[in-house]
Amino acid sequence: MRIVVGITGGIAAYKAVNVVRSLVLAGHDVHVVPTAGALRFVGKPTLEAISRNPVTADLYDGVAEVRHVALGQSADLVIVAPATANFLARLAAGIADDLLGTTILASEAPVVVAPAMHTEMWRNPATVANLATLRSRGILVVGPEKGRLTGQDLGEGRMSEPDDIVEAALGAVATRDLAGKRIVVTAGGTREPLDPVRFLGNRSSGKQGVALAEAAALRGADVVLVAAHLEVPPPAGVRVEKVSTALELDEAARRHAASADVVVMAAAVADYRPASVSESKIKKDATGEGLALELVRNPDILTALAAERRPGQVIIGFAAETSDGPDDLLRLGREKIARKGADYLVLNRVGWSEGFATDGNAVVIVDAAGDIVAEAAGTKLEVAHRILDLLR
Ligand code: CTP
Repeated sequence: MRIVVGITGGIAAYKAVNVVRSLVLAGHDVHVVPTAGALRFVGKPTLEAISRNPVTADLYDGVAEVRHVALGQSADLVIVAPATANFLARLAAGIADDLLGTTILASEAPVVVAPAMHTEMWRNPATVANLATLRSRGILVVGPEKGRLTGQDLGEGRMSEPDDIVEAALGAVATRDLAGKRIVVTAGGTREPLDPVRFLGNRSSGKQGVALAEAAALRGADVVLVAAHLEVPPPAGVRVEKVSTALELDEAARRHAASADVVVMAAAVADYRPASVSESKIKKDATGEGLALELVRNPDILTALAAERRPGQVIIGFAAETSDGPDDLLRLGREKIARKGADYLVLNRVGWSEGFATDGNAVVIVDAAGDIVAEAAGTKLEVAHRILDLLR
């Protein structure tokens, strides 16, 4: 990858050398753009030796090759470490009066900044507002940490460790592969009311669906989470629509699916609902020793979405089965995808102690032909990423 590392004028500039070094050792082509202030903290020869590329900070060097835009245009990633309060203010305002400023304005690559400043500057309303602006434009902010600052000061404002900056920055690029895709994820378990205080429900916690929404948002997708009674908080950066019953989920899923590229039906949808809902609490004096409930079928949302899908739209279903083993799980999954008409079906075994409310998961994914296209095991977030890999 071609990476621009901007260094601005703070004492943490000496640590930025290690950011450059790690990136070079990982095989990246690194171009360092220091500000004039940064060069008072670290020398150009150091930066050239470590980056193995010429370093220029002057806007008027290399004018013939239009360097002030060429560097930014050709970058796959821009990292600014340390980012001073002054630099963040200039970036928020779009000021481009030096090579780093023009490089960033001319770049469409993800930008990652690692602020470093004294605590008072970090907390200043101007800095807070600038950070909010930058974040709203999709700029990734790494740190700062609490710790020792220059001199005797101790507090928030210390630049994150170089390895953490590198990891976050590389992660930001790797995860942008779903940018521009609109993804609807349904999650949780529906509740079918019997009366004002009781319902028929299931044991789904919503964790796998929430992990899918989180992973998709991290990878740049525009995500709607249709949430039925989640036991975990929804992730940041996704739109959430709360639903309760299967019929509500059906309506919300189909409405959002109309403009989506991908629909993932991770919710556990009740197949049946009570034929009638009592307006008042059902009393046992009135029902006696036994109570028979009449249930009616709910629509099969996945089947309907698959039948109505637009060209190019991808529909992914889940199948939770209490199977006798892997072969049986696969057989049930193949039958189910043939019946439902989805593009992919994610199969997992469930039982009294498996599958629900756990942090880990193990799945097999089959395509419409019933062929295994992926297997994944790990945390629900890791499994979510493997499922989303199908969309690349
Ligand atoms: N599903 C759905 N609408 C329903 C029931 C299920 O859209 N009324 C979806 C689920 O979200 C899941 C997939 O269908 O993606 C499979 O759910 P599952 O409960 O395993 O399948 P069922 O169709 O209910 O089949 P069965 O209970 O007979 O195994």
